[in-house]
Amino acid sequence: MPYKRITLTHFLLQEQRRLGRSGAFTALMTDIITACKMVSHEVNRGALVGNHGVAGSENVQGEEQKKLDILANDIFLHMNALGGNYAAMASEELEDVHAVTGSADGRYLLLFDPLDGSSNIDVNISVGSIFSILRLPDGVDASKADAFLQPGVQQVAAGYALYGPSTMLVLTTGNGVNGFTLDRDVGMFFLTHPGMTVTPDTKEFAINASRSRFWEAPVRRYVDECLAGKTGPRGKDFNMRWVASMVAEVHRILIRGGVFMYPKDSENAAKGGKLRLMYEANPMAFIIEQAGGTAVTGCDRIMDLQPTNLHQRVPVILGSKNEVDRIADYHRQGA
Ligand code: AHG
Ligand code: MN
Ligand code: MN
Repeated sequence: MPYKRITLTHFLLQEQRRLGRSGAFTALMTDIITACKMVSHEVNRGALVGNHGVAGSENVQGEEQKKLDILANDIFLHMNALGGNYAAMASEELEDVHAVTGSADGRYLLLFDPLDGSSNIDVNISVGSIFSILRLPDGVDASKADAFLQPGVQQVAAGYALYGPSTMLVLTTGNGVNGFTLDRDVGMFFLTHPGMTVTPDTKEFAINASRSRFWEAPVRRYVDECLAGKTGPRGKDFNMRWVASMVAEVHRILIRGGVFMYPKDSENAAKGGKLRLMYEANPMAFIIEQAGGTAVTGCDRIMDLQPTNLHQRVPVILGSKNEVDRIADYHRQGA
C-alpha cells in the first residue's frame, strides 16, 4: 500500500529515537533533502529554463563548469546554511572552505559534490549530488581546511541523490543503507529501498576503457580476465557499463552488484587519480561498505586514508566484495 510508506523525515526521526541522537542531526539532514529536491527540480526543467550548457568558467581543479554545476552549488550553500547546524562547508566547486556566518553553535561540517557526472547534463543522462557529513572537532577553527581533513571512517553520515528516471536519495548514518524515492506530486522522499546490500559476487564491471593504454598491470590483468569470458581464467562471461556518473554507477552496484574502477594510471598518477577523496570517494566508500561491499585505492582501504588536501584525488575501486578483494590481491602481487 503506497500510503503506508514512511517518509525520509519519519525514517530519520525513528533513527534519532532508536539511537538516542539529538534533533540537530535530523534538522541538518532536512536541509540536505530540501537542497536535493531543488537541484532535482532544476535538472528536470533542463533546457526549458536555459539550465543546459557551460557557465564559461573553470573550478579549482581546472575543469569547465556547467551552468547546473554552479546552480546546484549555490542551492547547496544557501539551503544548508539556513538551519545553523553546519559550522562550515566545502565543495568541489569552491577552492576554499565556506564558513557559515551566524552559526556560532554549528557542530557539523558538510562536504559535497553538488553535481556529479555533469558531462551528462546536456545529453539528458543521469547525474547526481554526493554529500559527506563530519563533526567539527572541539577547539578547531571551522573556516580552515584542516578541520575537514579527517579520514572517511569519521563520517557521521553520507549519501547521494540520483537524478535519473526517478529522483532517489540513498543514505547511510553508519547503520546500513536505505534508499528513498521522490514523489514529485507530494514533494517528499519515501522509503522504497530499505536495507540495500551489494551482492558479494558479480559478472559486471565499470571502467572507462578509453584509458586502457594508461592502465597499470593489476587493472589490465583484471579487465583482460573478465573480457576473456567463459573460456578464460574466470570461466564466466562478464558485462561492462560506463555511465560517466559515479552516482549512477554506485547506484547500479547497490541494485544488482558490480565493480566500479577509476584507478590510478600512468596519465593521472601525478595528480593521485581522478576522483576526489573528500566528496566523492569517502562518501561512496562509506555507503558501499555499509551495504556489505568493499572500497579500496588498490591495496588500501579508502576510508582509512588520512587526507592532506581538501581537493585531493585518489584511485577508486569499489563494489562487490569478492571482486574488489581479487583486484586488491592483484595490486598486492603487482599484477
Ligand atoms: P564531476 O562531474 O563531479 O566532475 O565528476 C565526474 C566523475 C565521475 O562521476 C565519473 O565517474 C568520472 O568523473 C567520469 O570520468 P570520464 O570523463 O573519464 O569518463
Ligand atoms: Mn563528481
Ligand atoms: Mn561535480
